[in-house]
Amino acid sequence: MSNRLRLGVNIDHVATIRNARGGLTPDPIRAALAAQAAGADGITAHLREDRRHIIDDDIAHLIGTIALPLNFEMAATEEMVALALKHRPHAACIVPERREERTTEGGLDAFGQHNHLKGLIDRLRDAGIRVSLFIEPDPRQIEAAMLLGAPVVEFHTGRYAHAEGQAQSDELARLTDAAALAAKNGIEPHAGHGLTFDNVQPVAAIPQLAELNIGHFLIGEAIFVGLDASVRKMRALMDEARG
Ligand code: PXP
Repeated sequence: MSNRLRLGVNIDHVATIRNARGGLTPDPIRAALAAQAAGADGITAHLREDRRHIIDDDIAHLIGTIALPLNFEMAATEEMVALALKHRPHAACIVPERREERTTEGGLDAFGQHNHLKGLIDRLRDAGIRVSLFIEPDPRQIEAAMLLGAPVVEFHTGRYAHAEGQAQSDELARLTDAAALAAKNGIEPHAGHGLTFDNVQPVAAIPQLAELNIGHFLIGEAIFVGLDASVRKMRALMDEARG
């Protein structure tokens, strides 16, 4: 299917549960392999500065084990650039990171941080890593991504996911317009954050989107139905939305 929307499964929270006891289980690599078997098109992992979930060894093991492309989520720091250049993931998604946040709470300010991001993005791109910027669905941020030469943007769907009624429709319209604007300017749009079985379909139906990255809900649902069924159902809902 030519308009197939890719599903990237974020396995961070398998590592969150593992780290709660400091041992080896549940193993995020096993989760990545299960997601792969269930039809995921990619694996996403965020190596945070505080290593609260994914740790350095996980990235090395993922690269060495999975056949799927790895989307390495990273803050715009020298430490993370060095790790990306060492591991050479398929893609690097640059996210804002604040130590005290529970998750990535908003998009990257690509506009305000142009000078800081430019050299960093150039180095990743020169190493053959596909750079994406995790931004709000905001025309000013898309323009900034164009000036930075980012081939991909991922739109933060958190506002959409947490809104209701008219406010949610307004957020969906922002995402729809942003995806069209990015694609028109040669940038591949992705989206993610807070997506669930209940809210994924309107986003999946946005025709220009090429990939959704979904984690927390899928891992939580896996407690009840298993990761295979959780990923397969999300995959089916996305395919249905694409008609
Ligand atoms: N995309 C990015 C860039 C993220 O930072 C996250 C959260 O780690 C996700 C997607 C997935 O969000 P969620 O875990 O809410 O599905």
